[in-house]
Amino acid sequence: MGDNFYEKMNIQWFPGHMAKARRMIEENLKLVDAICEILDARIPESSRNPEIDRIAGDKPRLLVLNRADLADPAVTAKWKDYYSRRGMTVLETDAKNGRGIKEFPPAVKKILAERINRYEEKGQAGRTLRVMILGIPNVGKSTFINRVAGRKAAIAGDRPGVTRGRQWISIGGGLELLDTPGILWPKFDDPKVGELLAITNAIKSEIIDRETLAANFMLRLRTSYPEALEERYRFSPLPDDSGFDMLEKAAVKRGFLISRGEPDIERMANTLLNEYHEGKLGRLSLETPDD
Ligand code: G4P
Repeated sequence: MGDNFYEKMNIQWFPGHMAKARRMIEENLKLVDAICEILDARIPESSRNPEIDRIAGDKPRLLVLNRADLADPAVTAKWKDYYSRRGMTVLETDAKNGRGIKEFPPAVKKILAERINRYEEKGQAGRTLRVMILGIPNVGKSTFINRVAGRKAAIAGDRPGVTRGRQWISIGGGLELLDTPGILWPKFDDPKVGELLAITNAIKSEIIDRETLAANFMLRLRTSYPEALEERYRFSPLPDDSGFDMLEKAAVKRGFLISRGEPDIERMANTLLNEYHEGKLGRLSLETPDD
């Protein structure tokens, strides 16, 4: 992968933009009781913001492993265990289809148990608790907010002291969400992270050579999920196949040929990436806590 890729990836997040995003989040942090960090269950660490611990300070935090429908359930279980051991409360969701969403309100109450007790002692039982949703672009923040809000969604309206335009969505049970999520940046400086973000479509992959990306993805699949290659593309990868060799084999099996019977690598590369995105290769995680 060339340097070009990282340059392009950075355009969206030049230093000024990052500082602005950080400032907006820090302003909103003052208004909420807890934050809910959304990660991609297939690449939890790569879809995390490198400065989140500093930004979050001591706000109670909930971790959501979203897109769990596309992730390997065994690996997601490992991640849940991994983060739980580090004192985090972790949920597993498929925001697109609404799975795991009903666990959200009780989880928020769990992380805010101390505060809830304090309110009760002060005779303020039922006092509203507010949460901000945070995550890198395209991780499913808006989908998650819409799901959590569901039919109960009602704009709670502007509040004194709240910047005009900022709105709260009441989700019942005394909980409110900030209507716009906080957008965080990923770890640009790690090439592995860039590659995983591109494979999972978190960053637009037109900005990188799709064939190289797909070839690298093939290498990962051979290591972690060779059976997926056999089942979907009907070839058994050999230990010394390059990523491009594997794309060729899959193209031949698919009948993706250009003139003179040459395998159409470009078409196969796009097909592989699209099919992973659509979940057609099965539920495959690209990062494990053991890495
Ligand atoms: P954002 O606010 O964090 O930027 O993300 P957003 O909610 O817009 O979601 C980005 C895409 O991811 C949406 O698809 C959405 O449907 C999908 N998505 C969100 N959560 C889940 C999930 O748990 N599972 C699956 N499978 N998909 C999820 P889209 O706009 O149609 O784009 P595409 O990425 O599907 O092409």
